[in-house]
Amino acid sequence: MRILITGGAGFIGCNFVRHLLQNHPQKQIVVLDKLTYAGRLENLEDVKYNITFIKGDICDSEVVKKAMQGCDEVVNFAAESHVDRSITSPEDFVRTDVLGAFMLLEQARKSDVKKFLQISTDEVYGSTVSGSFSEKSILDPSSPYSASKAGGELLARSYARTYGLNVMVTRSSNNYGPFQYPEKLIPVLVIKALRNEPLPIYGKGTNVRDWLHVLDNCRAIDLVLEKGKPGDIINVGSGNEVTNIEIAKLILKFLKRPESLIKFVQDRPGHDFRYSLNWDMIRKMGWKPQMKLEEGLRSTVDWYVANEKWWAGLV
Ligand SMILES: NC(=O)c1ccc[n+]([C@@H]2O[C@H](COP(=O)([O-])OP(=O)(O)OC[C@H]3O[C@@H](n4cnc5c(N)ncnc54)[C@H](O)[C@@H]3O)[C@@H](O)[C@H]2O)c1
Repeated sequence: MRILITGGAGFIGCNFVRHLLQNHPQKQIVVLDKLTYAGRLENLEDVKYNITFIKGDICDSEVVKKAMQGCDEVVNFAAESHVDRSITSPEDFVRTDVLGAFMLLEQARKSDVKKFLQISTDEVYGSTVSGSFSEKSILDPSSPYSASKAGGELLARSYARTYGLNVMVTRSSNNYGPFQYPEKLIPVLVIKALRNEPLPIYGKGTNVRDWLHVLDNCRAIDLVLEKGKPGDIINVGSGNEVTNIEIAKLILKFLKRPESLIKFVQDRPGHDFRYSLNWDMIRKMGWKPQMKLEEGLRSTVDWYVANEKWWAGLV
């Protein structure tokens, strides 16, 4: 069994590679990654002898053809993933998140790929003040990032209907955990607090996110890959809905820093107020998150404290 992991040098991808090595040692893993600013070989340092690594772009059909050769399964993590960057450079997002997904799907339908899992996001539903989005809710993305992710997953679903490719999609909520690039909320706040610098919080800090530990997401992705049916779209949430300000206060508490470090900054344009998922479908498949938010956040803070070398040169 051979599996292609695109974007495997990024945050969720590298955690998923480790999850596979621990839980499915019989699978041969090929990682295809362009190594953008967010993808780093250091993220795969401890597993480099257990995988085949190919540096390349998912938008390059020749590279994709070579990487997919002999693969039974594909999990597409590769993406431009940061909402703020999508506001200043949307073209990069359309290119990788839409065209890149297309290139992978095209090659998959021409080869022997038996399962194709497209990693999408809860951001495709847009924002809600109350209630939770189910897999049947309409897609109403707000940013060039979420719109591009919606484009990628819609193409993936069209390949299931048009060509009979066995495509599945997961839409997870915000992930946190080790190896997350220090532009995302939690690592930014941890590093600022460690340096005794102001912690920037958009608007009034009341925006709500449902935080999912990356290892819980890896177990969910694995389950969908094993038990999902062709065409399945599956939400992965955690029931850990908290405001950004609460996250900042928890981090300051763990690091014994004063709350006076919190600094409110001008809100992001089109900033979604709240994401919330109904994840009954994956619950019925036998999955539930194992990590409680406080425990997961504390271990993540500990990871950044212990791995200063990993982030020091980045910010
Ligand atoms: N992080 C989250 O909270 C979250 C939540 C829901 C969904 N997702 C989705 O999960 C996936 C992984 O997210 P992440 O947080 O690990 O992102 P990340 O930005 O940390 O990693 C993305 C990886 O993709 C690689 N990449 C980018 N463009 C590429 C290209 N053209 N060709 C090949 N590789 C390329 C990068 O080098 C990097 O290794 C993304 O598809 C993202 O949309 C993330």
